[in-house]
Amino acid sequence: MAFIEKDISKLQCNPFDLISKDWFLLTSGNLENYNTMTCSWGAMGVIWNQPSLTAYVRSSRYTYDYLEKNNLFTVSVFSEAYRKALAFCGSHSGRDCDKAKETGLIPVALNGCVSFAQAKVVFVCEKTYAQDMQAENFLEKENVSKFYASDAMHKLYIGKILAIYENDD
Ligand SMILES: Cc1cc2nc3c(=O)[nH]c(=O)nc-3n(C[C@H](O)[C@H](O)[C@H](O)COP(=O)(O)O)c2cc1C
Repeated sequence: MAFIEKDISKLQCNPFDLISKDWFLLTSGNLENYNTMTCSWGAMGVIWNQPSLTAYVRSSRYTYDYLEKNNLFTVSVFSEAYRKALAFCGSHSGRDCDKAKETGLIPVALNGCVSFAQAKVVFVCEKTYAQDMQAENFLEKENVSKFYASDAMHKLYIGKILAIYENDD
């Protein structure tokens, strides 16, 4: 396997499928010290003239600590064959286990951050904006009780896309 950099103008994907149907691994840190978790919420678009990805991360996640401390994150997309691995990374915390060891995913250094050898597409992003969601700003108030009655609020992290890689395997 080798990651080949891809021009953003050549990217062909449905962002709704990529994010909420396929899911992705959100990873931050370096090879010596990183964490990863599964996400199915996010946004892909343009802000401040920069192609960007936004991730929504509850402050209770271990990955949150890594996003707070590091400037880069990766969004790694996998084929259906890795659904079980992503389900594991979305139901266990890096506080309690080594997700790579448990799933067989192989961490690799990429542009100063970390992804996984088996990823199909990887977006390397640099944080440009981060903000905690606040209950008073919700216009659909029912979402506060629906999504936050028993778990922490999300923080949104916008990252400008520095590079996109495709696996040539
Ligand atoms: C399909 C799926 C999608 C998820 N999407 C998100 C998400 O967008 N944001 C979030 O904060 N947690 C999301 N989670 C939950 C985290 O992945 C989960 O709590 C994980 O165990 C956190 O790991 P960590 O503590 O190592 O960071 C999702 C879980 C699954 C299974």
